[in-house]
Amino acid sequence: MYRTKMLPSDERSIDEAAELLRRGEVVGIPTETVYGLGANALDEDAVRKIFTAKGRPADNPLIVHISDMDMIKPLVTEIPELAYRCAEEFWAGPLTMILPKSDIIPSVTSGGLDTVGIRMPSHKTARAVIKKCGFPIAAPSANLSGSPSPTTAGHVFNDMNGRIPAIIDGGFSAVGVESTVISFENGAIRILRPGFVSAEDLKEITPDVIIDKGVVAQLEKGAIARSPGMKYKHYAPKADITIIDASLDAFRAYVRNNADEDCVCLTFGEDDCEGLNVRTLCYGQTDAQQAHFLFDRLRELDEIGAKKAFARCPSKEGVGLAVYNRLLRAAAFQVVTLK
Ligand code: TXA
Ligand code: MG
Repeated sequence: MYRTKMLPSDERSIDEAAELLRRGEVVGIPTETVYGLGANALDEDAVRKIFTAKGRPADNPLIVHISDMDMIKPLVTEIPELAYRCAEEFWAGPLTMILPKSDIIPSVTSGGLDTVGIRMPSHKTARAVIKKCGFPIAAPSANLSGSPSPTTAGHVFNDMNGRIPAIIDGGFSAVGVESTVISFENGAIRILRPGFVSAEDLKEITPDVIIDKGVVAQLEKGAIARSPGMKYKHYAPKADITIIDASLDAFRAYVRNNADEDCVCLTFGEDDCEGLNVRTLCYGQTDAQQAHFLFDRLRELDEIGAKKAFARCPSKEGVGLAVYNRLLRAAAFQVVTLK
C-alpha cells in the first residue's frame, strides 16, 4: 500500500516524479490525451508494477513514450518513410505508431509481441518528466483495467489511491480520448484505434488509410485482434448504456417511450431532453467537445448511481469516430438505429 501523493505540476514535482521513476516506481502523469500510468519502459520490474496497479492482462502491450526524436532509434529496428512523415506532421501529439521492436524493449512492455507502440506526447509536463529521466516511459491510461480512462488527476486518484506513490495534477486533459494507434503495411496506414488525429488527417499523408474492422465492430469469436486492447471490455461504467443512433426528434421520441425513472440520458446539449421527465448529462455539441468530456461523463454516471442510460450517437466522422469507438465499448455494442 502506498500513501498516494498528489503533486502540483511544477519543476519540483517533475524532479520528484523523475526520481521515483528512476527507482523503478510507477507515477500518474498528465498527457494531452488522458492521464498515463508511467514507468521505465526498459525496466521489467517497473513495468510489471503497472500491470499490477491496473489489473491489466499481461498480453495487452503498453505504449512507450519519448520526449525527442533521438530517443526512438534504439527502440525499434525499422522506421518506414511513412512513419517519418507522420512524426513530422503529428508529433508531438496524440498519435501512436506501431513499429518492429528492438531487443532493449522487454517483452513484458510489448505484451509478448515483436512490435512496440511509440508516442511523443505534447503535454509539457509529460515531456519534461521523460526528458528528465532520459529513458522512455511506458504508460497505459491510468485507470483500473476496464474503467473509463482518466482525464483529471482526481479520476486517477479514485482508481489508483494506495496503488502508486504519486500523481502529478496537470489539469483536465485537453483531448480527452486516447491517442490514435496506427500500423504500417505495404505503404498503407491502418488505424487500430481512432483518436484525435483522424482518418481524414492521416489521408493528407497517404490516401491509403484503412480503418481496421475492430474499430466499429465486435471481434468475432476466435479472431486474433491486431491490437490486443480491442478484445477487452472497456470504458464501462456500471450503467447499462444503449446508443440511440437517431435525429434529435427521434431520440426524444425514443426516450419518451422507453425511459423509466432510473434512466439517465447522455445528450449533446442541456435542452436535448427538455420537457421529458429524465435526468440528463450532456457531453458536448462538437466532436472535439464530446471527446473532451466523454470519459468524465461516463464516470459521473457511476457517481450518480445510474442503472441505465440512453446516449445520443456521435458523428462517426473526424474525431467523432474516436468518440463513437469508446462509447460503443462503454455500451457493450448496444445500438438502436432509428433512421
Ligand atoms: O493516449 C494514449 O495513448 C494514452 C496516454 C497515456 O499516452 N495511453 C493509452 O494506453 O491509451 P493504453 O495502454 O490504455 O492503450 C494502448 C492501446 C491498447 O489498445 C493496446 O492494445 C494498443 O494500444 N497497443 C499497444 N502496443 C501495441 C502493439 N505493439 N501492437 C498493437 N497494439 C498495441
Ligand atoms: Mg487504456
